[in-house]
Amino acid sequence: MNHTNVIAIDGPSGSGKSTIAKKLAQRLGTLYIDTGAMFRALAYSAHSNNIDIHDESAMKEYISDIKIQYQTSDGALIKINGKDLSEEIREHHVSKLASIISGIPCVRQFLLDFQRDLAKDRPCVMEGRDIGTVVFPTAFIKFFVTASIEVRAKRRLDQLNENGENSVDLDQLIKDVKKRDEKDTSREVAPLKVADDAQLIDTSSMDIESVLTKLVDLVKKKASELNVAIGMDESLNKSL
Ligand code: DC
Repeated sequence: MNHTNVIAIDGPSGSGKSTIAKKLAQRLGTLYIDTGAMFRALAYSAHSNNIDIHDESAMKEYISDIKIQYQTSDGALIKINGKDLSEEIREHHVSKLASIISGIPCVRQFLLDFQRDLAKDRPCVMEGRDIGTVVFPTAFIKFFVTASIEVRAKRRLDQLNENGENSVDLDQLIKDVKKRDEKDTSREVAPLKVADDAQLIDTSSMDIESVLTKLVDLVKKKASELNVAIGMDESLNKSL
């Protein structure tokens, strides 16, 4: 296994990794894969169908009979059983639901297979919590993007406010971020951790553009060391 086509970006929520991963994929001309959206969509969909999302066997039965689609031709980011859930998955309460199901082994296995299949033979930037450690341990290059808890909670607050959600305050978000970190790092299956060969990127006092410039340089350096193109579009390269 040698995944020269996968750029793995892991890190906790609010670290800026989604924005960075999305922009990096755009600049490199590769597919962008947001695995958090998959956990969110599954959680939202199961919950809406009155499945007890704490119950592993109920979840197992539920996922045995669903169809999940990522980036469909009609422009949807994610669909379950044909229903576009791209907006619903961003609601604040869905974060908690997603965090619960992310600890269930059969859910992780189901999404692991789906993620590996999506990246098959296609260059991509894939972001999540376990991409460099579990999904693609042989990824071409791995980044672990992080930031202080306070900075991450503030970013989450700004994001929610932008989406018109004003019911949560900063103190509550700091507590939420701590709780979610604790859960993500301590779960038994695929916990959030830095892969041995990942490069740590702390975005606490960096703006998106500086982070992006740094990552693009590192990717290009690695690509040139290995003499591979990782699917980079030459015309895009010129404007990097
Ligand atoms: O990145 P996010 O906030 O959209 O992720 C939603 C939840 O899914 C979060 O609790 C972590 C979990 N997740 C995971 O366990 N593994 C992934 N590869 C991606 C997300």
